[in-house]
Amino acid sequence: MSGFALSPLLSFEGSIQFFKPLNFVVLLLLFLALGNAVEINGGDGQCNYTKQTRQPRPHSVSILEFGAVGDGKTLNTIAFQNAIFYLKSFADKGGAQLYVPPGRWLTGSINLTSHLTLFLEKGAVILGSQDPNHWEVVGPLPSYGRGIEVPGKRYRSLINGYQLHDVVITGDNGTIDGQGSVWWDWFSSGSLNYSRPHIVEFVDSESVVVSNLTFLNAPAYNIHPVYCSGVHVHNISVSTPSDSPYTIGIVPDSSYDVCIEDCTISTGYDSISLKSGWDEYGIDYGRPTKNIHIRRVDLRASSGASIAFGSEMSGGISNVLVEHVHLYNSHSGVEFRTTKGRGGYIENILISDVVMKNVYKALGACGQCGSHPDDKFDPSALPVLDHITIQNVFGTNITIAGSFVGIKESPFTSICLFKISLSINSGSPTPWECSDVSGSSESVLPEPCPELKNSYSNSSSACFSLSTLYGKASAL
Ligand SMILES: *[C@@H]1O[C@H](CO)[C@@H](O)[C@H](O)[C@H]1NC(C)=O
Ligand SMILES: *[C@@H]1O[C@H](CO)[C@@H](O)[C@H](O)[C@H]1NC(C)=O
Ligand SMILES: *[C@@H]1O[C@H](CO)[C@@H](O)[C@H](O)[C@H]1NC(C)=O
Ligand SMILES: *[C@@H]1O[C@H](CO)[C@@H](O)[C@H](O)[C@H]1NC(C)=O
Ligand SMILES: *[C@@H]1O[C@H](CO)[C@@H](O)[C@H](O)[C@H]1NC(C)=O
Ligand SMILES: *[C@@H]1O[C@H](CO)[C@@H](O)[C@H](O)[C@H]1NC(C)=O
Ligand SMILES: *[C@@H]1O[C@H](CO)[C@@H](O)[C@H](O)[C@H]1NC(C)=O
Ligand SMILES: *[C@@H]1O[C@H](CO)[C@@H](O)[C@H](O)[C@H]1NC(C)=O
Repeated sequence: MSGFALSPLLSFEGSIQFFKPLNFVVLLLLFLALGNAVEINGGDGQCNYTKQTRQPRPHSVSILEFGAVGDGKTLNTIAFQNAIFYLKSFADKGGAQLYVPPGRWLTGSINLTSHLTLFLEKGAVILGSQDPNHWEVVGPLPSYGRGIEVPGKRYRSLINGYQLHDVVITGDNGTIDGQGSVWWDWFSSGSLNYSRPHIVEFVDSESVVVSNLTFLNAPAYNIHPVYCSGVHVHNISVSTPSDSPYTIGIVPDSSYDVCIEDCTISTGYDSISLKSGWDEYGIDYGRPTKNIHIRRVDLRASSGASIAFGSEMSGGISNVLVEHVHLYNSHSGVEFRTTKGRGGYIENILISDVVMKNVYKALGACGQCGSHPDDKFDPSALPVLDHITIQNVFGTNITIAGSFVGIKESPFTSICLFKISLSINSGSPTPWECSDVSGSSESVLPEPCPELKNSYSNSSSACFSLSTLYGKASAL
C-alpha cells in the first residue's frame, strides 16, 4: 500500500478556499516541519502481540475430496461441514488446512473448528447462498439483547467460529462473495424475518487471523469478532457498493488485542466500527473493546464513517491506537457516537497521521446518535467520552472540520487536537460546531471553537498520548 508518504499531502486537487494561498503554503511548511520534529515513540502496539509466526499445517485436504462442485450452482454446505468435521481429528496434531481450489463454491452458513486454516487459492471464490433457508438462525448476542435490525433472532454468518482457538482464514487473494444484494433489498423493503447475516463471525474465540483475501458484497458486516481476543486482520480488501445499506467492513465488538493493518476497505456505511454492546444488555454483559491497533489502512465509507466508535459502546471502548490511515470519499472521517442510556465509555484513544480527502465531516463526536433496543433502557445511564487525542491530520475538500456535540449531563472531556490542517470547501456553513465539550488544541486550522481552545501546552498532560498508552517516555 502506498499513500502515507508525504507526497500525497502536496498534491491536493480539492478547492482551497479557506486559506489564502500564501498562508496555506506557510501552514503546509509548518505542518511538514512539525511532522518531522515530533516522532511517535511507543512502537507498534497491539499489532506486535497478535502477530505470531505460524508453522504451516502438517495436514491438508482439498474440498474436492468431500464432493464439492465449484460450478457456482451446486450447494456445497455439506461438503464444507464434512471436511471440517474430518479435520477436527487433526486438532491435536498441529491442526490442518482446508484447501479451496479455483472455482465458484456456493455454500450456506458453515462452522469452522480450532487449529484450522481455510485457504482460498487464487481464483477460488466462496459464494454465499441467496436462499435464506441455507442460513442457520440463532439467538441474539447477549450484549445486544435482540437482533440489531429486527427484534428477536438473527441469521448466522456465512463462516462462523464459536469458542475456537488458532484459526486462520487466508489465501492467495481468493474471494469470499456474500452476494448480499438480496439481503440489501429485504432490509430496505422491511421484509427481513431476522437480522441480516455477516460474512465472517467469530464468537468467544482467540488467536484468529484473516489475511490475503478479497471480501465482496457482504449482507451486513464483513468481519465481526465478538467476545474475542488476539485477532489479526491483515492485507485484505473489502468492498460493498456505496449504496448498500449499512454494510460495514470490520467490527471489533467486545474484543481485545485486535490488530487491523494493511487493508483497503470501501463500504456503504462504516469502514471500521468499534462496538461493545447495546444499552442495558451491553451494560449487564460488561465486556469492553480494548487494546486495538489500526494502521496503514485505506478507507472509504460512503454514508457512514471511515473509522467509527459506537454507537453501541455500552461495555466501554478504550486503549485504541489508529495511525497512518488514508480516508477518502466518506461522509465522516473519524466519528465517536453515543447517546443517553448507553452507559459505558470511550476513552484513551489516539488517532495519528491521517490524510483525508473529499470527506464531508472530518471529525465528529455525537452525544445524540443511536437508537435503543427497547424501552427498558435506563436514560440516566450516561456514557463518558474522555481522553481523545487527534493529531497530524491533513485534509483537503472537507465541508465540516469538526462537530463535537456532547451530552449536557455528561460533557465530553479532554479532547486534544494537535497539528490539524483541513482545507474547507466553499459549501461549508461553519467549519466547527461544539457544545458540551472541552479540550485543548494547538496548530489547528481552521481555528477550532472556543470550547476546544484551552492551551495545549498547559493541558497536554491531560491529553492522551502513546506514553500513557504504553507507559513509556515519549516525545509527544
Ligand atoms: C514491534 O515490532 C518491531 C519489529 O518487529 C519492533 O521494532 C518494535 O519495537 C515493536 N514494538 C513494540 C511496542 O513492541
Ligand atoms: C454450528 O455451530 C452452532 C453453535 O455452536 C450450532 O448451534 C450449529 O448447530 C452448528 N451448525 C452445524 C451445521 O454444525
Ligand atoms: C497481500 O495479499 C496478496 C494476495 O492477496 C499478496 O500477493 C501480497 O503479497 C500480500 N502482501 C503482504 C504484505 O502480505
Ligand atoms: C485480488 O482479487 C480481486 C478480485 O478478484 C482483484 O480485484 C484484485 O486486483 C486482486 N488483488 C491482487 C493484489 O491480486
Ligand atoms: C419471511 O417469512 C415469511 C413467512 O414464513 C416468508 O414467506 C418470507 O419469504 C420470509 N422472508 C424472507 C426475506 O426470508
Ligand atoms: C499472506 O501473503 C504473504 C505474501 O505472499 C505471505 O508472506 C503471508 O504469509 C501470507 N499470510 C498468511 C497468513 O498466509
Ligand atoms: C469534495 O467532496 C465532496 C464530498 O464531501 C464531493 O462530493 C466532491 O465531488 C468533492 N469535490 C472535488 C473537487 O473533488
Ligand atoms: C498557561 O500556564 C501559564 C503558567 O502556568 C499561565 O501563565 C498561562 O496563563 C496559561 N495559559 C492559558 C491559556 O491558560
